[in-house]
Amino acid sequence: MRVFVAGASGAIGTRLVPQLIDAGHEVIGTSTSPRNADRLRELGAEPIVLDLLDAAAVRRAVLETKPDAVVHQATALTNAKFGRNFDKTFAVTNQLRTKGTDNLLAAAREAGVSRFVAQSNVTFRYAREGGMVKSEDDPLDTKPVAGAVESRAAMNYLDDAVVAAGGIVLRYGIFYGAVNDGLIWPVRKRQFPIVGDGGGYTSWIHLNDAAAATVLALERNGPAIYNVADDEPAPARVWLPVLADALGANPPRHVPVWLARLFAGEAGVVMGTEGRGASNAKAKRELGWQLRYPSWRKGFVAAYTTHRPSTSKARKEARSTVRA
Ligand SMILES: NC(=O)c1ccc[n+]([C@@H]2O[C@H](COP(=O)([O-])OP(=O)(O)OC[C@H]3O[C@@H](n4cnc5c(N)ncnc54)[C@H](OP(=O)(O)O)[C@@H]3O)[C@@H](O)[C@H]2O)c1
Repeated sequence: MRVFVAGASGAIGTRLVPQLIDAGHEVIGTSTSPRNADRLRELGAEPIVLDLLDAAAVRRAVLETKPDAVVHQATALTNAKFGRNFDKTFAVTNQLRTKGTDNLLAAAREAGVSRFVAQSNVTFRYAREGGMVKSEDDPLDTKPVAGAVESRAAMNYLDDAVVAAGGIVLRYGIFYGAVNDGLIWPVRKRQFPIVGDGGGYTSWIHLNDAAAATVLALERNGPAIYNVADDEPAPARVWLPVLADALGANPPRHVPVWLARLFAGEAGVVMGTEGRGASNAKAKRELGWQLRYPSWRKGFVAAYTTHRPSTSKARKEARSTVRA
């Protein structure tokens, strides 16, 4: 297949491109800068510089490149600072998930592209009641957390639009496995504490495993939603000390909820105390997906305590996880 990857130069895109090529696909990959386009060419993709919010440019790019499938991996989170207001941090990403999704879907429809796979996420999505680990059929959270209302709405918009168009939504866990993962420095500096009882669950996913699930999703007919997370959703009080240890940091601090609310806002408190994890049973069953890192326990160690991989080593590793 010819696969058009919007946002190919990002954390997941740069894992996905080599895996798609190794699976026998041709890849058209977009970035927003010529520099990143060069990187995509090195990875084996046909690069295009594209702003997903420019509907005419998106239409032109998709019609001209004639793909068989479109993958939406565009976000605007480079150097994102996570504070009290998630919506501020996610403002452009939210546009990419609403207007950007509409632009890509319209272009795909006009070009007669039948396969569409888009990035969604599990974090802050499922209702904060009942069990701690949720399947795709469980209800979504209807009580928006202050500071994350627009981000939640944008994610819901993407899910609904893609499913309505017959596409596949991949609700990824929190990515890890890159040298610039967002939690590395806060955890090293002990600025990411265990809040309250630390009972909020997180689902993690190694970037290479996330890319592998994406390659497999392209072979399926939609519409469908899959949680793409590892086998071990876990509370912060369990995973955070393991992450700190893998990073060679001192153990995380403990802070009471009232104090966390002051510096991390309601979103930080909810994530640390009430967050729900996600079951990957459906993705494993229907996609035939097998994870190289079924648990963050080994994944953190592999990602952070070994020698930093060179570009060629990282590519080799990405390639080795296309299929189990
Ligand atoms: N589920 C998760 O946990 C999750 C999800 C997403 C991101 N993240 C994290 O956020 C951090 C940053 O993510 P990232 O490295 O993927 O970078 P990013 O800045 O979020 O960019 C992702 C991709 O979207 C492209 N893009 C940005 N603005 C665009 C626009 N207006 N139109 C079209 N494409 C656009 C980028 O192109 P350029 O690079 O050329 O600008 C890149 O290819 C990473 O640590 C990542 O792991 C986590």
